[in-house]
Amino acid sequence: MKIKIAPSILSADFSCLDKEIKKVERAGADMLHIDVMDGHFVPNITIGPVVVKYIDRVTKLPLDVHLMIEKPEEFVDDFVGAGSDMITLHIETIKASGFRLQAARLKKKKIKVGLSLNPSTPLAKIKSLLRYVDFVLVMSVHPGFSGQKFMPSVLPKIKKLRSMFKGDISVDGGVNDKVAGGIIKAGANVLAAGSYVFGAKDPKRAI
Ligand code: DX5
Ligand code: ZN
Repeated sequence: MKIKIAPSILSADFSCLDKEIKKVERAGADMLHIDVMDGHFVPNITIGPVVVKYIDRVTKLPLDVHLMIEKPEEFVDDFVGAGSDMITLHIETIKASGFRLQAARLKKKKIKVGLSLNPSTPLAKIKSLLRYVDFVLVMSVHPGFSGQKFMPSVLPKIKKLRSMFKGDISVDGGVNDKVAGGIIKAGANVLAAGSYVFGAKDPKRAI
């Protein structure tokens, strides 16, 4: 499978977001990872639809919108309207029936559907939903902040997931050159990376 890199703009300099986005686009990013946080599901507040709308105007990269918010179903349409190409919901924030509904609605709008799970959430929680998703986003840190350390304890989870799921497996949190090899070996093919890419002197090389 092709390995794809999704720089997470949470580690960008927001005073010049346009420049930062173009930097990673030129450096060879495959998509742009956008972390949406509400201060409830996670202890941080970040980006809303209005910011996504303006990001969409300055880049051709697909927008990979990671919703770390309670009641995500109330905001999905706004993020679709803002130009998201991929939307990820967390299994901890929605019932299976609600997720199936959102997945069907997103598919109709040709938006790629992702399902994410926290490091402490077992695969059993998402197993029955795998047939409705385009990709799974495996969290390798407790969501909320960039710059945390990768948790190697999620590697067996990635391996097990790969044995039952053929779509894209994305890994998010603490990804850098030291851990990427092990993540890919376990079966993931999309790497979301914030501080490693945006903090690099040479982002092209980092990617
Ligand atoms: C964490 C976010 C991640 C984060 C990644 O809650 O979902 O996308 O920004 O940043 P790094 O790569 O620095 O861990
Ligand atoms: Zn993320």
